[in-house]
Amino acid sequence: MLHNNIRGRLALITGASGGIGAACAHQLGQLGANLALTYSTNLSSINDLVADLQSKDATNKLRISIHPVDVGSPDQIEAMFQQIDAQHGQRPDILISNAGYGERVPNVWDISLEEFDYMLHVNLRASFLLVKGVVDHMKSQRWGRIVFMSSIAAYGGGINGCRERTERLDEKNLSARLAEYNVSVNDVAPAMIGDTGMVPSTKEMADVAGNIPLRRLGSPEETANVVTMLVQTGYMTGQSLLLAGGLK
Ligand SMILES: NC(=O)c1ccc[n+]([C@@H]2O[C@H](COP(=O)([O-])OP(=O)(O)OC[C@H]3O[C@@H](n4cnc5c(N)ncnc54)[C@H](OP(=O)(O)O)[C@@H]3O)[C@@H](O)[C@H]2O)c1
Repeated sequence: MLHNNIRGRLALITGASGGIGAACAHQLGQLGANLALTYSTNLSSINDLVADLQSKDATNKLRISIHPVDVGSPDQIEAMFQQIDAQHGQRPDILISNAGYGERVPNVWDISLEEFDYMLHVNLRASFLLVKGVVDHMKSQRWGRIVFMSSIAAYGGGINGCRERTERLDEKNLSARLAEYNVSVNDVAPAMIGDTGMVPSTKEMADVAGNIPLRRLGSPEETANVVTMLVQTGYMTGQSLLLAGGLK
């Protein structure tokens, strides 16, 4: 038995109010996963997402919860887990640590200390705390999937000076230690994904798209395709997948 079916599993997706997170929610929901979805500021967007998910749920069996959380705050992450315990009666089987942001500050020396610290808390420390919140449950049931949404910036050479090499947990270390529990750990490192809060549509970004070898922006759905593949492919672990239209 390969146990790659996720029907009835609980997926926590942070940043589901944004472009990539919402696309992940659609795909995992269609595969029958129950959903714990977080937002930070955009309540109307998460409400629209939930209404859309419910309207497409022919079985009417999908359990969906929403949680306001600033992932920069350990207290708010803890409160989110308490809410999930109460509403789902379990910790997540699948973690998609997707919430994040990036200010466009190309020069490292122009970044304030406050901005640097906050970026680390949101883009790095949050993943650490989220893993701590799910790992005991995953280990005890000997099944789990963890996907971090990283960035091409983590490979170096990105347009945001602040994010380079700072925002990835070491998925190789974590995956090696969790493999015996059948918990996979991977990251997806996108670049220039349009229709997101981070990168608007191709029309507005025509000049940027011209510098991408594929000559277009990526889509949230293409990013969710990779996340879904990882969640359904337990044999793949410890990998970082660059999704960047040919950018290196
Ligand atoms: N789009 C790209 O080309 C690209 C490239 C590299 C990496 N990424 C990564 O992909 C992930 C998803 O971004 P996206 O492209 O879908 O952009 P997006 O549409 O702006 O979505 C960002 C999501 O993160 C949430 N978020 C931001 N700061 C947060 C905080 N402090 N606490 C909790 N949630 C927070 C937002 O919540 P609210 O909207 O509710 O405030 C939103 O749901 C991010 O981690 C981003 O760094 C994207």
